Amino acid sequence: MTNQTIAIETKGLTCRFGTFTAVDHLDLQVVQGTIYGFIGSNGSGKSTTIRMLCGLLKPSEGQALVLGYDAVAETEAIRQHLGYMSQKFSLYLDLTAGENLNFYGGLYGLGGVERQERVRAILERMNLMDKQHVLAGSLSGGQKQRLALGCAVLHHPEVLILDEPTSAVDPTSRRLFWNLLADLVKNEGTTILVTTHFMDEAEHCDGIGFLKDGRLIANGSPQHLKGKLPARLYRLPYDNLPEARRALAAAAVPVLDVYATGRRIQMLVRPDTVLPEHMHAAVAELTMEDVFIYYDKHQEVAEHDIHTAQSSAR
Ligand SMILES: Nc1ncnc2c1ncn2[C@@H]1O[C@H](COP(=O)(O)OP(=O)(O)O)[C@@H](O)[C@H]1O
Ligand SMILES: [Mg+2]
Repeated sequence: MTNQTIAIETKGLTCRFGTFTAVDHLDLQVVQGTIYGFIGSNGSGKSTTIRMLCGLLKPSEGQALVLGYDAVAETEAIRQHLGYMSQKFSLYLDLTAGENLNFYGGLYGLGGVERQERVRAILERMNLMDKQHVLAGSLSGGQKQRLALGCAVLHHPEVLILDEPTSAVDPTSRRLFWNLLADLVKNEGTTILVTTHFMDEAEHCDGIGFLKDGRLIANGSPQHLKGKLPARLYRLPYDNLPEARRALAAAAVPVLDVYATGRRIQMLVRPDTVLPEHMHAAVAELTMEDVFIYYDKHQEVAEHDIHTAQSSAR
């Protein structure tokens, strides 16, 4: 995998509902065989983008391509190569786990021995062999989630799109699920686009796109995003936020943000900000959560930086 093939691409992709723009000139590129995390607050346009990629919704403007196929003109071709899983898991709760897989196998045109073998392989891989004859409705959240993933990958799709697949399950199931995704990428070279609210999951992605109000405001690997963030993170030795705010105001420190992460009080400042020594601020390592907080609150700043970078590149 030395040559970087682009598996998912959008060019100026736009979706308007009446006068409201849900997705605004989105330019995305996802490299084949990588996991791309799509991050953004509720209503930022993630699901709408996914619906356009799957050919379920026609773009108002621009283009969506999956494996080079146009999502509008070549929807059928895309369906053969694409697996999709929604937060709602789209399972038949009154069918058993095995019956759900058989049903989806039929939809994908798998028959006879091939289907039986594939269903068996999926049950094994998803650690659901002993649940084969259990009604999907009686499975736990994590088991339902793995069954839904199994249904989505039954036809060996090269591209897998997952919309908030881990929102409804416990931490153990989340970890197991991410291991399964990593296996798919490693063993089958699958390309995965996944939306999530969990920033610890974002750390596992090869690429991240931050969406805000339908626009891509930051894009790159977690390392890259942390490295280029025009801010530094410090931990402050205060017990609570009001106390920290008072001290910062008294010292006239220009802060970008000050917030609590668990019991830690942290602040983001511009890299060139000089801090008075008596504050005892300790440099802290940025996590994707800090990156998210920064971009979510400082969109204008981010856009300004993008424009400056573009004009100086010209
Ligand atoms: N069919 C629709 N008609 C009108 N507005 C919609 C429709 N679908 C989504 N929206 C709006 O578009 C915005 C983006 O929604 P969505 O893509 O679901 O966001 P996300 O998945 O990031 O939470 C939201 O403000 C939502 O209310
Ligand atoms: Mg959504």
